[in-house]
Amino acid sequence: MTVTIVGSQLGDEGKGALVDLWGGDADIVVRYQGGDNAGHTVVEGGEEYKLSLVPSGAVRDKVGVLGNGCVVNPRTLFDELDGLQERGLDPDVRVAKRAHVILPYHRRLDGIEEEVKADSGVKVGTTGRGIGPTYEDKAGRRGIRIGDLLDPEVLRDRLEYAVEQKRSLIEDVYGLEAGDECDVDALHEEFAEFGRRLEENEMVVNCSDFLHQRRQEGDSLMFEGAQGTLIDIDHGNYPYVTSSNPTAGAAATGSGVGPTVVGQGEVVGIVKAYLSRVGEGPMPTELDGTDHEESLADFIREKGGEFGTVTGRPRRIGWVDMPMLRHASRVSGFTGIAVNHLDVLAGLEEVKVGHAYELDGEEIETMPATTERWAACDPVLKEFEPWPEVDWAEVAEEGYDAIPDAAQDYLDYLSEEVGAPVYAIGVGPDRAETVELTNPFDR
Ligand code: GDP
Ligand code: IMO
Ligand code: MG
Repeated sequence: MTVTIVGSQLGDEGKGALVDLWGGDADIVVRYQGGDNAGHTVVEGGEEYKLSLVPSGAVRDKVGVLGNGCVVNPRTLFDELDGLQERGLDPDVRVAKRAHVILPYHRRLDGIEEEVKADSGVKVGTTGRGIGPTYEDKAGRRGIRIGDLLDPEVLRDRLEYAVEQKRSLIEDVYGLEAGDECDVDALHEEFAEFGRRLEENEMVVNCSDFLHQRRQEGDSLMFEGAQGTLIDIDHGNYPYVTSSNPTAGAAATGSGVGPTVVGQGEVVGIVKAYLSRVGEGPMPTELDGTDHEESLADFIREKGGEFGTVTGRPRRIGWVDMPMLRHASRVSGFTGIAVNHLDVLAGLEEVKVGHAYELDGEEIETMPATTERWAACDPVLKEFEPWPEVDWAEVAEEGYDAIPDAAQDYLDYLSEEVGAPVYAIGVGPDRAETVELTNPFDR
């Protein structure tokens, strides 16, 4: 049995919270793409954990796996593991030998290219973690993989080739000075040591074999998507995207578990009850047109704590974008959805969603495939009856019927338009502040 958790919007939908909730019924939690650009929050009994690389199942003592589709910065990984250990957890994390390694030169190049792009007004607003350059090297067949860290000779050969290329890029193309990030000896020493530490702690696995074996023994898997559908490199608003596939298909390619296995399981789309975006790119339903909209956005941002987990940047705020959710549901084949942050919209004087777009005088219900056309869309807004502020802890305890009627209507609408039932509703950040209707592991 597998359950795949996918972000259905622009990231930060509260995936961590649901992985935490349902991860209790999984044996293994697998990240299949992305790296330390992710920031997943888990809150248990008031205790908050912000995880960027360690799968969110760690908080519940599950085995965590970073699949071959991930890009892994060992510095971040060990810092995060050390931090969790200091807080009394003992995470069991395995890393695929086929996963690619983020090296210091990737971060440097991420920063350089963003600066250059900014001069031309085309920057992406990346997290600066070196994600793009690492996936570029993977596709360019000059990447360094976790398995290479275990063999000092192979590591040296690969570094010698890659570093020369980065040095030319930095110096000859960008006219800057290369620094420590291009010191082969220092990189070799540091990263071979990471290799030793990974091996010593029995953290490296052949991911496909490992997961196959554990499934044979009866273990159930949860796939933890990072980022969201609209920043998927294939299905998102290119070029304002990350460099991997957060959508469900990648759960198979990014882990070595067959698509027939993933497809027989559940795929749950995580939906924020409004929209947030950190980074550049269009956002037709953004609340930024008038003073009134801006103050509404400020209110939601403050109440929802909408500041980037990784970079601290304030997130842009908008209404739910229905063409976006229809697209997300189709791309990943949602069997259910979880709607978070219902509490944040409570007590507002208005609640709206972008039901469709108007483009060239026509009304359309799906997203144009080019970013320029998407940016030209005006939202066709639909208004909902607002719901009052209530004691959400009490609602979580009493269950679905305690949710205000107007909010139930809103949930019914989302579910109907997406074509998938609501499995859970987030009414606060804590694990206990979730109204669960269906546990996907029970289906
Ligand atoms: P992720 O990247 O998808 O895991 O989401 P983040 O952790 O980056 O951002 C979601 C934020 O909203 C975190 O601070 C969560 O603790 C919080 N959160 C999650 N679900 C809810 C909810 O239902 N209500 C409220 N108020 N906060 C939530
Ligand atoms: P989680 O898993 C929200 C955004 C960045 C930028 C674009 C590319 O917490 O939902 P990158 O560093 O990946 O090359 O940046 O993608 N981005 C995210 N936005 N949540 C995330 O992760 C994100 N990871 C990357 O802001 O716009
Ligand atoms: Mg996040």
